[in-house]
Amino acid sequence: MSAIATPTRPRVEHWTSGERVLGIGVASPRLSWTVPDAGTGFRQVAYEVEVAGPGGRQVHLVRSADQVLVPWPTTPLVSRERVTVRVRVRDTEWSPWSDPVEVETGLLTPADWSAAFVSPVPTGEADTSSPELTCRITAPEDLAAARLYLTAHGVYVPFLNGVRIGQDLFAPGWTSYDHRLRYQTYDVTELLCPGDNTLSVLLGNGWYRGRLGWRGQRALYGDRLALLAQLELTTTTGERHVHGTDDTWVATPSGILADDLYDGQRTDLRPPSARPAAVERIDADLTRLVAPDGPPVRATETLAPVTVTTSPAGRTVVDFGQNLVGWVRLRVRGAAGDEVTVRHAEVLENGELATRPLRSAKATDSYLLAGDTDETLEPLFTFHGFRYAEITGTGPIAAEDVTAVVIGTDLLRTGWFSSSSPTLDRFHENVVWSMRGNFLDVPTDCPQRDERMGWTGDIQVFGPTATFLYDCAGMLTSWLADLAADQLEDGSVPFVVPDVLRDRSASAAAWGDAAVALPWTLYQRTGDLDLLARQLPSMCAWVDHLAALAGENHLWTGGFQYGDWLDPDAPPQQPGLAKAHPDVVATAHLAHSAEILALASAVLGEADAATRYGGIAAAVREAFAAEYVTAHGRVLSDSPTAYAMALCWNLLPSAAQRAHAGTRLADLVRASGFRISTGFVGTPLICDALVSAGQSELAYRLLTQTGCPSWLYPVTMGATTIWERWDSMLPDGSINPGSMTSFNHYALGAVADWLHRGVAGLAPAAPGYRAILIRPTPTRQLDFASATHHTPYGQAHASWRRTGDQLTVLATVPVGATATVHLPGEPARRIVGPGRYEWRLPDPTPVPRPPGPTSTIRDVFDHVDTWTSVVAAACATEVVSGEVELARRLAPYLDAPASELVSCLTRDRPAPGSDELRTALHPVVPQRD
Ligand code: BGC
Repeated sequence: MSAIATPTRPRVEHWTSGERVLGIGVASPRLSWTVPDAGTGFRQVAYEVEVAGPGGRQVHLVRSADQVLVPWPTTPLVSRERVTVRVRVRDTEWSPWSDPVEVETGLLTPADWSAAFVSPVPTGEADTSSPELTCRITAPEDLAAARLYLTAHGVYVPFLNGVRIGQDLFAPGWTSYDHRLRYQTYDVTELLCPGDNTLSVLLGNGWYRGRLGWRGQRALYGDRLALLAQLELTTTTGERHVHGTDDTWVATPSGILADDLYDGQRTDLRPPSARPAAVERIDADLTRLVAPDGPPVRATETLAPVTVTTSPAGRTVVDFGQNLVGWVRLRVRGAAGDEVTVRHAEVLENGELATRPLRSAKATDSYLLAGDTDETLEPLFTFHGFRYAEITGTGPIAAEDVTAVVIGTDLLRTGWFSSSSPTLDRFHENVVWSMRGNFLDVPTDCPQRDERMGWTGDIQVFGPTATFLYDCAGMLTSWLADLAADQLEDGSVPFVVPDVLRDRSASAAAWGDAAVALPWTLYQRTGDLDLLARQLPSMCAWVDHLAALAGENHLWTGGFQYGDWLDPDAPPQQPGLAKAHPDVVATAHLAHSAEILALASAVLGEADAATRYGGIAAAVREAFAAEYVTAHGRVLSDSPTAYAMALCWNLLPSAAQRAHAGTRLADLVRASGFRISTGFVGTPLICDALVSAGQSELAYRLLTQTGCPSWLYPVTMGATTIWERWDSMLPDGSINPGSMTSFNHYALGAVADWLHRGVAGLAPAAPGYRAILIRPTPTRQLDFASATHHTPYGQAHASWRRTGDQLTVLATVPVGATATVHLPGEPARRIVGPGRYEWRLPDPTPVPRPPGPTSTIRDVFDHVDTWTSVVAAACATEVVSGEVELARRLAPYLDAPASELVSCLTRDRPAPGSDELRTALHPVVPQRD
């Protein structure tokens, strides 16, 4: 149709599209593009890729409608090869060419490295000055290009002639260093001058040699920092001069006196007096070297303080108004040797920094000033999770002298949600901030205390949300490679990846299942079949391991489990003591992972494996039903998480059992007073489970609840990130006494995936969103909801708005995709192609009917206004202390007539206020004596 639809500049592998991808580690990179503004009806039938390099220009014609992760069309690239790539597409005519992307490979084989790892002599301890390794370089007059390839044992910051190279933070990042060590590539052409130059690299302890874990361990990978650097200078005549790290380099102690990710950095800014010492080559395996798969950690934003105040103890406390991850940048003036200290915390208690949740992490940066002039203080080798900073050692602080530097993996934002509820929108914003803070090279549990690890369970539940909000495919591709690398011989998956706990008996449901669930999520969200193929052995190893643990009866029972971790009913110090029995959780996960693996095997064309894992899934489902499900559909241990798993993962054999389980789940939600009562496992599932049981209004009652515990309770307490516990801060403002109390954990925010897919109604229906499911779930509890996602095919959108008695649904479907649309209240679905759509229909959300003479107590629960009045009256008459108690006491009487509510409530416990309650309820639900 349209002849002028110009495709976007091709994106290379999972690199965020930009003009240039430098140092890619893939010889045959795959390409993707979108075709914006093509006009309705555009259909790509063919594409051409032009690859141009010094050897000339080639154009490759491919007749295909594919535009996502299409194969490299020509001979694989070799190390250091630089080409430009552009595409054009055809419907009836060729489009113009896209903008070009420049692709340059890194060093693809160990043989490309002539440099050797060098380490300072003397070796230095973890708590001594960070070393600066230096060498002199002579650059030729006719320099055409200069590339620096760099990695370290530790973390590094490179400088050329005193100018910082690039903006990467905490390079080379954190991988399973014994198996995979990333190197980075920098274009340093502009930083070199003809003649003498100085290349210097500061080394910090980072994850390699710093503290890791709450057991006080450090130097888990080795006790020597080391550097591998290779500077390659190419002249205009094509000659290459290579300067690699060797024993001509020197090491000088820097002014960074101590650095640790948990404890902070101590820096002496006075001119250094130390003399250079030698370095020595150390043996290190270069086959571990890999190029990055995704973007680096960078500073992504700066925030000004909201207030600078004096605490009750007389300390200067800065509030940045947002719990964030990064550090404080401070401008000060003082005398030489004056000491300035910055401490950090996520919350205040009694007006002072609350540091107990940090456990042993000192989270303190200190500086000895050079003196006499304005100095800017900020650390290089540490980061903190904080909203508040306490500053001592300076004169009065002006707000403009303090900045919070926000850091994280520099991911491209791809997903948005908004609704008519500001509280819900703030919750969603909190999810985004928790992702930003915890996607710091590795997807971590929390960013502040002595932990900050790649806990597998956390990302397993958060993966679907993460992949919607940000383009994290590259980062998670790398992490999954580490997971496979750290997986044990018997297939068990470490609790954390990279595995620094090194617990050889590790196998926990929901945690190890990350090996299967996350590749599948990434495949669904990005369409990356190669990733699935690469992870397949790891996925199989995990399921085989579980099948062996389950043995002949197909039930995974006993042994250590985290279970439905952080069920709000578990005691603070025993977060694993959930209502859902760990055996039920474990066997359900085995069935679910085997099912996913059967599907993954099938799409990869592994028919035998598909049959085998399909068979395991069926056998485990059968065993689950026989052991844990009654003939009518009650599921052990009769908890919301157990029903949520059973309903979402197809664990109930008959329709009648499913219906009964749905009814029971709904009653449990009522019985909890619409408070959340699931932990890590049930939380991402419960809303989907309720919707599948025809109970979407109850899902909304949970979602919009603000009492404790609920998703929105923390928002009412001023939270700006998702908390680890439902009640990390208790309603009285005190901090939960549990030793594990973070205010920045994304796991319980995993319901955001339902906000996108369920509430607004924008979900993938085929890998990479090539087919989209638009199925909004309108409710009277919201006036509108909207989700937008930059899918691999381009921008998709779904939203709905209720006005008067009308519902308007909007949708956008990008070129290359189709959508199946379920309009609320309309039985027929429709399939639409690319374009923008608007449908108007009568508002299908039922007008809530207040309870009448034949209503039950269940009907009272379900009518929001009536229930609110009953709660208010029961509290005012002091018959109950609150909504939760009211719900719990009425739960056994859900089928009783509404007119007997007060009698039911006071049957076993006469209440002095019952007569008043009867009178108070009369206008709402008339009561019989
Ligand atoms: C972490 C969690 C993690 C858990 C394992 C905690 O200390 O912060 O998020 O998954 O341990 O149960």
